[in-house]
Amino acid sequence: MISRDATSLLRRSLLTLAASAALLPTAFAQAPIVIKFSHVVAVDTPKGKGAEFFAKRAAELTKGRVKVEVYPNSQLYKDKEEMEALQLGSVQMLAPSLSKFAPLGVKEFEVFDLPFIFDGYDDLHKITQGPVGASLLKKLETRGITGLAYWDNGFKVMSANKPLKFVEDYKGVKMRIQSSKVLDAQMRAIGVVPQVMAFSETYQALQTGVVDGTENPPSNLFTQKMHEVQKHVSVTNHGYLGYAVVVNKKFWDGLPADIRAALTKAMAESTKVADDIAFQDNQDALAKVKASGKTTVYTPTNAERFLLKKAMVPVHKQMASRIGDDTIQEIYKVTGFDPTKL
Ligand code: LMR
Repeated sequence: MISRDATSLLRRSLLTLAASAALLPTAFAQAPIVIKFSHVVAVDTPKGKGAEFFAKRAAELTKGRVKVEVYPNSQLYKDKEEMEALQLGSVQMLAPSLSKFAPLGVKEFEVFDLPFIFDGYDDLHKITQGPVGASLLKKLETRGITGLAYWDNGFKVMSANKPLKFVEDYKGVKMRIQSSKVLDAQMRAIGVVPQVMAFSETYQALQTGVVDGTENPPSNLFTQKMHEVQKHVSVTNHGYLGYAVVVNKKFWDGLPADIRAALTKAMAESTKVADDIAFQDNQDALAKVKASGKTTVYTPTNAERFLLKKAMVPVHKQMASRIGDDTIQEIYKVTGFDPTKL
């Protein structure tokens, strides 16, 4: 005989079990897919704002089924580590600068580092929004990475604690560069002593004199407060710095098709927003650097800029076997750049 107490205990337990079972599928269905998006720059930059916009649109377009968590400012990982983290799946999304893909073995990306190869954003977009850009992104797949989009930052300025007016002024200046052999060659071409360093370590290296100067789009210079430790900026616009937004391929391929479609739409919208912000932010940042009064901002004359170009463009030929001459030639064809006309 089972006692009345035992029967009621059994009934209560069964009811509790049934209630929890009823909750289970709902709980699982509601758990959002989390995308960790790590980057190394400040929140208040073109990439930082683009990432926030993407997070917002991804949540809206998937009706909360995707949650993008943005980790700015090398909070999670520094330059080199973030690539490894992406490949291992510890983060799902990154937007490293194009200069940072060569260490993965995709050296063609260093084509974007070639000095003076793009005359402005119009030239650049012919590549990043055209077939050459698409075929470069495709090359990342063998590394377990899917390229979703290119996001702009901007054209770089040089900075140091001495005026950088003439090519000779660069001789012997120690400058921080991103880890790119093309940037190394570009700097050596004008007598700079280049030093590869993580972005997150640059401000301190400038402040303590480990390096004398660096190159940046104005938005990065300003948001990292580098102008506070650099007395002179020269608006050389000698090269471009932009990003590839990338995801872990296994993660991306494993997403439900409707989610992938919504995220693709969110990315297309974010690319437009990020590019517009980049254009405006770099102008604003330069104005703010000037207004700070801490740095002298010099714009080289056409003649001075031409001499810099003449000194740097031989790097295209020098780096052709590393990057692939076909990639360089394809860009020349699309943009009309002619290195012989110097
Ligand atoms: C740098 O290292 O200078 C840049 O790649 C930082 C960034 O992500 O814009």
